[in-house]
Amino acid sequence: MDYRVNPGGCLRGQISVPGDKSISHRVVMLGAIADGVTEAEGLLEGADVLATIAAFQSMGVHMEGPDRGHLRIEGVGLRGLRAPSDIIDCGNSGTAMRLLAGLLAGQEFSCTLTGDASLRRRPMGRVLVPLAQMGAAIEAEDGRAPLHIHGRSLQGIHYDLPVASAQVKSAILLAGLYATGDTCVREPAPTRDHSERMLQGFGQPVRVEGAQRCLRSVGHLRGQSLRVPGDISSAAFFLLGASIAPKSDLLLEGVGINPTRTGIVEILTRMGARIDLLRLREVGGEPVADLRVRYAQLRGIDIPTRLVPLAIDEFPAIFIAAAAAEGVTRIRGAEELRVKESDRIAVMAAGLRTLGIAVEELADGAIIHGGVLGGGEVASHGDHRIAMAFAMAGLVARESVRITDCTNVATSFPNFAELARTAGLDLEVQTS
Ligand code: S3P
Repeated sequence: MDYRVNPGGCLRGQISVPGDKSISHRVVMLGAIADGVTEAEGLLEGADVLATIAAFQSMGVHMEGPDRGHLRIEGVGLRGLRAPSDIIDCGNSGTAMRLLAGLLAGQEFSCTLTGDASLRRRPMGRVLVPLAQMGAAIEAEDGRAPLHIHGRSLQGIHYDLPVASAQVKSAILLAGLYATGDTCVREPAPTRDHSERMLQGFGQPVRVEGAQRCLRSVGHLRGQSLRVPGDISSAAFFLLGASIAPKSDLLLEGVGINPTRTGIVEILTRMGARIDLLRLREVGGEPVADLRVRYAQLRGIDIPTRLVPLAIDEFPAIFIAAAAAEGVTRIRGAEELRVKESDRIAVMAAGLRTLGIAVEELADGAIIHGGVLGGGEVASHGDHRIAMAFAMAGLVARESVRITDCTNVATSFPNFAELARTAGLDLEVQTS
């Protein structure tokens, strides 16, 4: 499935983006292994989260839904999962695979996790190494999926993360629920803390000791009812589009603004964007606001490296903002982008060059020279966020932009095309 975006237009009105993907995965996982019922509202019904739901159903967890964002999970308790009937397919989802590897390492059964071609290329050694130190037995060829997990009893560890990764931190903490003693993870830089917040909400204390997060399993989780906030990573495409398209004025309702996720707001604001956070409140243990974004002429900046982990999924949008800005934007310290759903440095650089923008590719980032975007055909390489970022670029391109291989937009934002059209993007979905 391809997108074709015709030039012109702006983004206006009031919209709600779907539920947060990271939080949706975690509520399914913790709800499944909690005691009692967990009810989630506002859950993302994207393919990634559906893969996590199917994984737990195959391990004997009964769920109703998801239906219009509502999911009811009948938790089976920490020790209640059963050996899955088949190989678990995590699809395109790194979060599903890495967090499940941690959660399943301490079970009393064996299972296999696999995924699509993109996920089978991504590095899993980063979770296999600490989990092995905890006593896990996981076989993988060359540190990549499929992962064959042979459940074992685990011991807690103290682990210094070599990369700033919420997925690795979370995998270790989830394994810690099944381990003896303390499990502690130290991060080189702050990363999203949804696992820590949600574990607390489910009655499992997590201690914060400087850059270290520690837990000692209390042996059970308590089912919860919670509302999932809108995904700031999905809102990011609209923050981008409204910032670059003249006359835009858009209100995004109920977006999660956890400080470990708001790097995009800070980066765009530093570039000159006009973003207001309105009606600040708390939802499901997470801070939420309505975001109003209006057009502003953006300027190139040097992106502070401390903001990189706080905006890690937003770089496709940031590349487009930089292309539409006046002057030069420098992205450094972002080598993690090379091992996302695609090599996001290479794919964004190639796409922007196709549209006539000068980009110097660096091992850990890029230097982007803002300019006038032309039209053309851009390959998303099946990367959902790259597809959506280039769709927004179409607002300011001189000719139409065609983006190929957009099916995976459904992994995180199933109604993107529809919502973007409602807001004013002239986008056609083309199926061949
Ligand atoms: C996620 C963490 C991030 C992010 C991913 C979701 C999570 O990955 O890129 O989309 O839900 O924990 P890393 O932790 O590997 O950086």
